[in-house]
Amino acid sequence: MEESSPEALIQAYSSLIGKPYMPPYWSLGFQLSRYGYNSLAKLKAAVDRTIEAKIPYDVQYADIDHFRKQLDFTYDTVNFNGLPEYIKELRTKGVRFIIILDPAINMEEQNYTTHLNGLANDIYIKWPNDQNPQFNETSDNQNPYMVGYVWPEGKTVFPDFFKQKTHEWWMKEIDNHYKNTLTFDGLWIDMNEPANFDTNKPKPWNWPPNRPEWNLKCPHNDYDDPPYVPLIATHYGKDTRISDKTLCMRGIQGDNNEFIHYDVHNLYGWSQTEPTLKALRNTLNKRSIVITRSTYPSSGTNSGHWLGDNTSIWAHLKQNIIGLLEFNLFGIPYIGADICGFFGDATPEMCTRWMQIGAFNTFYRNHNGYNGIDQDPLALGKDVADTSRKITEIRYSLLPTLYTLFYLVSQNGGTVIRSVMHEFPSDPRAMDIDRQFMWGSSLLISPVLDKNVRSVYAYFPKTRWFDFYTGKEVETTGRVHEIDAPLDHLPLHVRGGSILVTQESAVNTDLSRKNPFGLIIAPLKLDQKVKGGLYWDEGDVIDASGNSTLINFEFTPGSNRHILKVSAQEINFALLESNYLKTIRIFGVTSQIDNVTVNGVVHTKYEHDPRTYQLTIFDLRIKLDSVDSKEIIVNLK
Ligand code: NOJ
Repeated sequence: MEESSPEALIQAYSSLIGKPYMPPYWSLGFQLSRYGYNSLAKLKAAVDRTIEAKIPYDVQYADIDHFRKQLDFTYDTVNFNGLPEYIKELRTKGVRFIIILDPAINMEEQNYTTHLNGLANDIYIKWPNDQNPQFNETSDNQNPYMVGYVWPEGKTVFPDFFKQKTHEWWMKEIDNHYKNTLTFDGLWIDMNEPANFDTNKPKPWNWPPNRPEWNLKCPHNDYDDPPYVPLIATHYGKDTRISDKTLCMRGIQGDNNEFIHYDVHNLYGWSQTEPTLKALRNTLNKRSIVITRSTYPSSGTNSGHWLGDNTSIWAHLKQNIIGLLEFNLFGIPYIGADICGFFGDATPEMCTRWMQIGAFNTFYRNHNGYNGIDQDPLALGKDVADTSRKITEIRYSLLPTLYTLFYLVSQNGGTVIRSVMHEFPSDPRAMDIDRQFMWGSSLLISPVLDKNVRSVYAYFPKTRWFDFYTGKEVETTGRVHEIDAPLDHLPLHVRGGSILVTQESAVNTDLSRKNPFGLIIAPLKLDQKVKGGLYWDEGDVIDASGNSTLINFEFTPGSNRHILKVSAQEINFALLESNYLKTIRIFGVTSQIDNVTVNGVVHTKYEHDPRTYQLTIFDLRIKLDSVDSKEIIVNLK
């Protein structure tokens, strides 16, 4: 990589803010969620549909509707009766479970131990001084804690994650919930901007109709009414204040009351993330995962992120790409949109196209809002399920490549998903490309983003490119090609000079990880070495250093023969017996084949397509669990 390349810049930035977190292997699988299953029966029905449709699927979510009265660390024992047992049952089928947690804690609920423990430890954000007449106009000025209203059916207080005591409290609550109530494999932390509903208005939009009007109203002072208001705060109208939709800026935080909320407001989500991951690791003793809504530079060292409440409209498919590219630059490469859209209803066509882009979001979760129709693929019809299965199987087949990319960025910093411009900075035409994106430097994704459209105009920077599906080379590059994209097809192209590691797909990653590997080799020039690698470990251990394997692939295309060398740098983690290398696809093999040998022994199982120049060598059994190097030679006529 050139020192001045965009990737080198992001690597340098990552070294400053912290290198991205290595997600567990299972979290690269497909995930399903919605707000408003409202009962275990409906959640089960969505799970059953997804399993019935044989869509590879690794994670199911439960949103706040699984709580009792929207209270953290509870579940609704009436509508979700049997949830703990069901989560365990799902685990035996290879499906993991992630639950939501909100920061706002109900202070009015009787005998709510989470809050009582919070009070006992004095963990909440405070007013500066409850006697201060300055705050008389706030309705809760007698309360030392700042009180607001969010989802629970009662006023809420807000944990201050700048306090050590809060970390301890949070850790205990998570541990206790896991051990005594529900098991989970990861946590989804939401509303942590922190969100408060309709601050400064007469009452929150969801305030109980039978209660006298009340709301959190911020006092007037230099912090709550600074002379210069950021544009974002005025987004919802001209007369807005920066505290609208959040807490008052005069809040007090920190172990020694040393912070004003104004100064640490943007760090609320950030401050919650690390203790949440720590809590998970403490309880589960697994790598686990946190998905957070609010981020700040360095949040990527402990979590992934979803792009928030989008809408099921075509414009938001395109914005999905922008979100992926930006958050990779920000050091948060585990990133995804609510696939098929959160607000509104996706049509089958839109959801099909969105599942196709979704399969190339690093965080691949179909999530839907409260009032929407069911939008898990089969709920939208057999065709949506079939196309979703097809693209999800392709994603699963590429997971070894994706996992290796994550390993590399966790070590060196940098991006997993990139813009075309990022890879081709000196190509002026690449600057405008915002409808295509790349995985690493090798795979170009050119999705359909519009209604009723069945082809894409894809730009191919000047180098070699091969169709992922057929292996056929793109003729003449440095220009736009119109590529067919019927509803069941996502155009994908492999860049010349790369090796992708694949693995046969399965219905979940527990199973796909046991399957044989494959290689896709796209050459660049005669005699020019092409390199690729596979990083492998157990997939969910906290620290895999010294317990992992790196396998190198090196391909040299020559005029008489092509040589592939397979070698392992170190074998600290033995691959399974079934993890042998089974299939190798080599693109651009224009000469006829004389024979193929594996470590000197002739291997007759191959197919050479004279129209596409793809050579597929199949039924190999090349074991990958030893350091001895292996050599596959394609002798040409
Ligand atoms: C807002 C989040 O952005 C959304 O994903 C979630 O479904 C709702 N809160 C309800 O928890």
